[in-house]
Order: sequence, then C-alpha cells, then structure tokens
Amino acid sequence: MSHAEGRHFLQIPGPTNVPDRVLRALAAPTADHRGPGFAVLGREILDGLKAVFKTRGPVIVYPSSGTGAWEAAIVNTLSPGDRVLMFETGHFATLWKAMADKLGLDVDFVPGDWRSGVDPAIVEAMLAEDKGHAIKAVMVVHNETSTGVASRIGEVRAAMDRAGHPALLMVDTISSLASIDFRMDEWQVDVTVSCSQKGLMLPPGLGMTAVSDKALAAGRGAGFARSYWDWQEMLAANKSGFFPYTPATNLLYGLREALAMLQEEGLGNVFARHDRHAEATRRAVRAWGLEIVCRVPAEYSSSLTGVLLPEGHDADALRGLILERFNMSLGTGLGKLKGRVFRIGHLGDFNDLTLMGTLSGVEMGLALAGAPAQAGGVAAALEYLTAAARGTGAGTARRAAG
Ligand SMILES: Cc1ncc(COP(=O)(O)O)c(C=O)c1O
Repeated sequence: MSHAEGRHFLQIPGPTNVPDRVLRALAAPTADHRGPGFAVLGREILDGLKAVFKTRGPVIVYPSSGTGAWEAAIVNTLSPGDRVLMFETGHFATLWKAMADKLGLDVDFVPGDWRSGVDPAIVEAMLAEDKGHAIKAVMVVHNETSTGVASRIGEVRAAMDRAGHPALLMVDTISSLASIDFRMDEWQVDVTVSCSQKGLMLPPGLGMTAVSDKALAAGRGAGFARSYWDWQEMLAANKSGFFPYTPATNLLYGLREALAMLQEEGLGNVFARHDRHAEATRRAVRAWGLEIVCRVPAEYSSSLTGVLLPEGHDADALRGLILERFNMSLGTGLGKLKGRVFRIGHLGDFNDLTLMGTLSGVEMGLALAGAPAQAGGVAAALEYLTAAARGTGAGTARRAAG
C-alpha cells in the first residue's frame, strides 16, 4: 500500500475503527490460555457481555466471524428438515437463508424490497396459520447492514405472542449490538447472534451466540451433528472461565477493554450517540437531495445510512474517487444494490468530528464526481450537531472523562 497522508477514514459499516485503548490491549503478550490468570479474564468477559446483550443467560464466544455464529445458532437448536421462517430484508438475511438451505432446513423466505424491515403483521399471520406448529424458528436480522434498515424486534416478539406460537426467535445483531438498543431477555429472544468487528469496536475474529433456556432445551432434542460449534462443550468449559479449544486470546484482551469503555460511557449514552449521528447523517443526505435507502422512518438504522444514487450514476465509482482523493472508505452496495448504493458507517468508536469529516468527504466526492447532488449536507449536519451540543437537541450525553 502506498503512503497516504493523515489517518485513513474507515467509514464502512464494519469492521469499524478500533480505539487506541483497545489496540493497546490487543498488543499485550499472549498468555497461557490454560493458566489461572486466563480463567479470571474468561469469566470477566463472559459475565461482562451479558449486560451488552441485556441477558442473564450465557453468551458463547467463538474464534470465528459472524457467519460461524449463524451456523452455531442453527446446528445447536434445530434438526435437518425443520421448517423455519426468514425474511428477505437484504443481503445478509439472504446469506443466512442460503446457509439454512445448505444445511437442509426447509425455509419459508418472505420476499422483501430491501428498503424496509420485517413486517410484524406477516409474522403474526404466518404463525397463526401454522396450527400444527411445524415452524420451529423465526430468524430475523435486526440491523440489515446492506441497507441501513433496523427491524423492530420488540414488535416481532409481540406478534409471535399474539399468534401464541412456540417457535424459537433467533436474531442477528451483528451490526446492532452496542449501537442500537437490543433487549434479549425483555424481547424473549432465544438465540442472539453477534460478532466483534462492529459496535464492539474490535477487529474481526470473535463470533458470539447468546442463548436462552428455551434454546438450550431445544438443543437437547436437536438433530444436527455438531462439534466445533457445540454449546454444551463450550458451556462446560466456560463455567471455570476456560474454553474447550484455543480461544482468540488477544482479541479477548481487547474485548475486556471494549466492554470497560462501553460501561464507562453507559449503554444508554452509546445508543443516544449513535442515534444522533444517524440523524445528522440523514439530514445531510436530504440536503444533498439524495434518497435514503430505508423507506420506513421507524426503521432507520443508527449504525449506518444507505444512500441511493439516481439511475445512471455509479456508486462504486464515487466510492473509488472518495478513496483516492480523500483516503476514506465507504461501504459498497451489496447484492441487488450493487452499484446503486453507497453506505456511510457511523457506528463504533465515533464522535461528532469523525462524522463531520466523513460527511465532508462525501460532499466533496459528490461534487467532484459530478453527481446530481446539491451542497449543504455538511452544513445541515453541523447545525443539528451544534444544537445537540448546546443541549437543545437529542443525544447530548458525554462519555465519562478519562
Ligand atoms: C448483519 C450481518 N450479518 C452477518 C454478517 C456476516 O458476518 P461475518 O462477515 O463476520 O461472517 C454481517 C457482516 O457484515 C452482517 O453485517
């Protein structure tokens, strides 16, 4: 890679920027993962994660990407041939569905427009129709990273309850955990899938599943063969703070630091900060005269904003120009949205000035590319953030000093 001046702006919706505190923690000498000190670290992390998932149940941490955690959720709870309900909210929901197909599940895949989230009314109707309770799981992506649409998980839960259906609820929180409010126990989510490289502000390499008692009970009768992903072996070893195979030791040091940072700021403040940056971004997009991918205001994502370019304009060419001229990476359009959309990541270790730098890079890039966009987005965001900083707007919370 050639030298570029200043710090690279990594504004894709994950992997996100790793804070210096976490980078320093990652750089500690590798320890004996079977030694007594490691057990203390293991327990601290496994307990600390519960607060982030808002659960009292166990959180299982794998040395894997998020895709591994998707697989762990399936093979620990279901059997080949089981019927499951999934929703085409975007690229990642489509990939999870493809995995379910490959593993031999019978998937009811509700089509979607990639611009809105899961419709709770459809969940209720489909479950109410399933009188014999053949559907074993409802599997939802909370925040669709390919579109910037956040499904309303509390409402999905309420729809399942209204239908009186016993299916498990599995939720992918890969780009929402520690960025957008998620309440595992309150919403009676049975398996929450997540990973390290987004709101947790770590490099990629840790996959996670948080599991309810109901999911553990379902696992006892589940028919998929499993070994590496087996919850029971993990839980047995985790009791004393250890892992059944070599964990990603240095990532766990980083995770301890990231959990401390989230606790210092307070999760409520973390969510308010993400909401504030998302709102400022949307104001910029509207001032540019461009379209936000998400059509439903109640489903706007606070982790990222997907922006549509008008027909005939190549979003990847714009991204390439912004990278070359301003040393900033933006998210590419994925799947059906390839070339049509660019995504602004505003999650993780992020503050008002990071956002203003990001939006400035986009506005300059739009002008240089000759895109059909007006100036004024940066000014609109600045006005909103200034009002928020004065305390007249939302999300004025500050991270505790230190
Ligand atoms: C919502 C969502 N689910 C699943 C994945 C897959 O995770 P990974 O690439 O870590 O395997 C991603 C990756 O960005 C994602 O955003």
